[in-house]
Amino acid sequence: MRIVIMGGTSGIGLAAAEHLTAEGHEVTVTGRDPERLAAVKDRVHAAESVDGASVEQVAAFFDRLGSIDHLVLAFSPGAVGIGNLREIDLADLRAGFDGKLFAYLSAIQKARVSGSITMVSAASARAALPGTVTLAAVNGAIERIVPPLAAELAPVRVNAVSPGIVDTAWWSFLPPDQREAQFAAAGQQVPAGRVGTGADVAAAIGYLIGNDYATGVILPVDGGFTVAR
Ligand SMILES: NC(=O)c1ccc[n+]([C@@H]2O[C@H](COP(=O)([O-])OP(=O)(O)OC[C@H]3O[C@@H](n4cnc5c(N)ncnc54)[C@H](OP(=O)(O)O)[C@@H]3O)[C@@H](O)[C@H]2O)c1
Repeated sequence: MRIVIMGGTSGIGLAAAEHLTAEGHEVTVTGRDPERLAAVKDRVHAAESVDGASVEQVAAFFDRLGSIDHLVLAFSPGAVGIGNLREIDLADLRAGFDGKLFAYLSAIQKARVSGSITMVSAASARAALPGTVTLAAVNGAIERIVPPLAAELAPVRVNAVSPGIVDTAWWSFLPPDQREAQFAAAGQQVPAGRVGTGADVAAAIGYLIGNDYATGVILPVDGGFTVAR
């Protein structure tokens, strides 16, 4: 199968790329940073520089590529707009929407997909955590577009995985000691007793891609965060 993973050079996307490559698929990953692209290019079919937030670059990429079987959308602008609503800059809130929701929608518009589309949302969409209004709004919107898109794009299947805290470079905005403390505390708050890994989420992405009867699904992969609240 020809699979594209946008945001496949780090974290969850990279883990998905490795998982799907090991299953024998032809995986093309995209990202922006040339060093990250160079580091992964020999581990996948191809690694291409595409800014997912640029409608022009996304359109040109999918025109070049032609038809694909599966699309995985695994990028975001990172930890923008974190903080209580009254303290955040509205421009950051908007950047959260532009860099994830609108970017995902533009990729879905442009890609020629025959099998499935899997988006990566976040457990913040289903939580009530102070300081996460931007994340909840953006990822909540992504989770809400899954059902209408699954109906509209059928027979193409449309799903999302909804991870809890996952140990990836997304968290690099925190100094290492704070990050470790945050992960330890978060791990204690979920039944699984730890934060997630990219491989945990990659396995769920692989399931959604591989199961021809799974569509319209929002699959939590959060160590039980949802039930622990
Ligand atoms: N880590 C968590 O705790 C967590 C929890 C819930 C949900 N998520 C979601 O999981 C997804 C993946 O995050 P991650 O944790 O794997 O983060 P990550 O390790 O920082 O990886 C992000 C990937 O996206 C790429 N990317 C970022 N902006 C891009 C853009 N404009 N165009 C193209 N590629 C872009 C990055 O490469 P370049 O920077 O080189 O472009 C990188 O390959 C995100 O949607 C995130 O919101 C993460």
